[in-house]
Amino acid sequence: MITDIFDEPLSMDLERVLLRPITADDADDLYEIFSDKQVMKYYDRLPLKSREEADELAKMFIDCLADRKMVRWGIEEKSSGKLIGTCGFFCISETNKKAEVGYELRRDRWGMGIMSEAVEAIMKYIFTKTDINRVEAFVEIPNVASMKLLDKLGFVNEGTLRQYERCRGELIDVTIWSCLRNDGVY
Ligand SMILES: CC(C)(COP(=O)(O)OP(=O)(O)OC[C@H]1O[C@@H](n2cnc3c(N)ncnc32)[C@H](O)[C@@H]1OP(=O)(O)O)[C@@H](O)C(=O)NCCC(=O)NCCS
Repeated sequence: MITDIFDEPLSMDLERVLLRPITADDADDLYEIFSDKQVMKYYDRLPLKSREEADELAKMFIDCLADRKMVRWGIEEKSSGKLIGTCGFFCISETNKKAEVGYELRRDRWGMGIMSEAVEAIMKYIFTKTDINRVEAFVEIPNVASMKLLDKLGFVNEGTLRQYERCRGELIDVTIWSCLRNDGVY
């Protein structure tokens, strides 16, 4: 079962960051990340407006992990001890052996290769610790940074889903990316 991983410790010690479960104490750092309009520009949710919303977001991450619905790691910067982003996988399908990845990083840490380090680690985790066969990602077309990240990590662009979802009041096109177990990247 894919969900067997929820019985094991999830933390990973990488070169510059620790990936570890999110706690209620992370709400201040989550607020800084998720209230930034630039970070949230291509998200289907609005930037956080209050610290209370950050408490709710932390609780949602904690509850989804407890309910075995989603693995969302906090990305803790080793040098500062600060939570600088999150990444993980969700929409886990036991039948279809697939899951979707998602990630975001605080703006002043962009372009330093940090998310490459984190998502490479979670891809290795997925393909060694679970029997997931297909990892998907959905990206809005103007989100070049996210598409470059996926391309660099061996994902294949499968095309554009036209007017796929309502986002910020309008129906938008979304690109779909995947990495399969037998692509042999991980
Ligand atoms: C997408 C995001 C997580 C990338 O994180 P990051 O740590 O800056 O990415 P990396 O530094 O590991 O870069 C990965 C690759 O993308 C490229 N890249 C990163 N930002 C870029 C940008 N703005 N424009 C063009 N290329 C970019 C890098 O050059 C790198 O490729 P290279 O190693 O071949 O040079 C970050 O921009 C972010 O948090 N964006 C807002 C949230 C978001 O959009 N999440 C995804 C929703 S689908």
